[in-house]
Amino acid sequence: SAAEKGGYEWFMLKEIAEQPRAVADTLLGRHSIDGHLQLDEMRLSDDELRDVDKVIIVAAGTSYYAGMTAKYAIEHWTRIHCEVELASEFRYRDPILDRSTLVVTISQSGETMDTLMAIRYARQQRARVLSICNTNGSTIPRESDAVIYTHAGPEVAVASTKGFLAQVVACYLLALYMAQVKGVKYGDEIASLIAELEKTPAGIQRMLDEGDQVRKLAAQLAGSRSILFLGRHVGYPVALEGALKLKELAYIHAEGFAAGELKHGPIALIEEGVPVFIVVPPKARDQLQEKIVSNIQEIRARGARTIVLAEDGDMDVVPFADHLIRLPKVPTLLQPLVATVPLQIFACELASQLGHDVDQPRNLAKSVTVE
Ligand code: G6P
Repeated sequence: SAAEKGGYEWFMLKEIAEQPRAVADTLLGRHSIDGHLQLDEMRLSDDELRDVDKVIIVAAGTSYYAGMTAKYAIEHWTRIHCEVELASEFRYRDPILDRSTLVVTISQSGETMDTLMAIRYARQQRARVLSICNTNGSTIPRESDAVIYTHAGPEVAVASTKGFLAQVVACYLLALYMAQVKGVKYGDEIASLIAELEKTPAGIQRMLDEGDQVRKLAAQLAGSRSILFLGRHVGYPVALEGALKLKELAYIHAEGFAAGELKHGPIALIEEGVPVFIVVPPKARDQLQEKIVSNIQEIRARGARTIVLAEDGDMDVVPFADHLIRLPKVPTLLQPLVATVPLQIFACELASQLGHDVDQPRNLAKSVTVE
């Protein structure tokens, strides 16, 4: 009903709007002012965590993209080797698991069959399993050794939005906690990263407040046959997520690519007028920003219509952007928390323009409980 949707046309719009809260609530109560993290509910001892020499993240759909994002943070902050794997592939490839492997599953619903089967398989192989989940008492956390709940609140729309941002935050808390336990990060460094995380709800709110430009763009691009998304580093999973949302909701062909792979294929798809979203890394990050600016230049010279997501003050992109979506300045690893938001709004709005049921896209289910 309209009341349940809180005045929004779709649950998805309501859930997109709830993201500042979802992120803040997932951070709430999990750290002290000096940055010391506490993940009380998680049921793995610090000794068990210190034993971990490899993390394998397993998930499906949008949760898998949260996992891809988390890999960058886990390896960077903890210096523990981390792999990410689709739940549907994991147990069929004979993965190497032992007591020192921590399998981290990510699931909004806690009921995805492939993810559950991955947990059972991992535990049979004696790996420890920690689940990041949004649904209290669901099957996945019940069958795991440990759990970190995301506090996004119930998600109704089939396409995950606030669940995704909360998952990224929960993964980052886990990464920082492991870094703390391992002694590779200390109080003030953790405190300053937590302080940055605590600023993101305001950044997300700004992306919501500036949603009108994205809605206008969706109206302009509603006739597109295909839309591409480029990103690198943590912008790569953001690009994949932007494309997934668009195909799920608007039934338009969409693909996400790692920008560094442009010359290995995607550039062949560039023709006059094809819309390409590009997620530009913060300038502080190595030379990734420069490299992606040159990608934008190349595709625009071949006729692409470029929609550039770049942080405030990045002027290098201006000459090559047909549309410019500004992002607040945040540390690189946190950029997905703000950059995903306009892509969610874009897909939702474009699908709406085409007259599709945004909350219940054809052929899709909120949770895939069969294989
Ligand atoms: C389905 C949903 C997606 C979700 C995926 C994984 O495909 O439509 O929104 O990301 O399942 O679900 P989970 O509940 O395990 O996160």
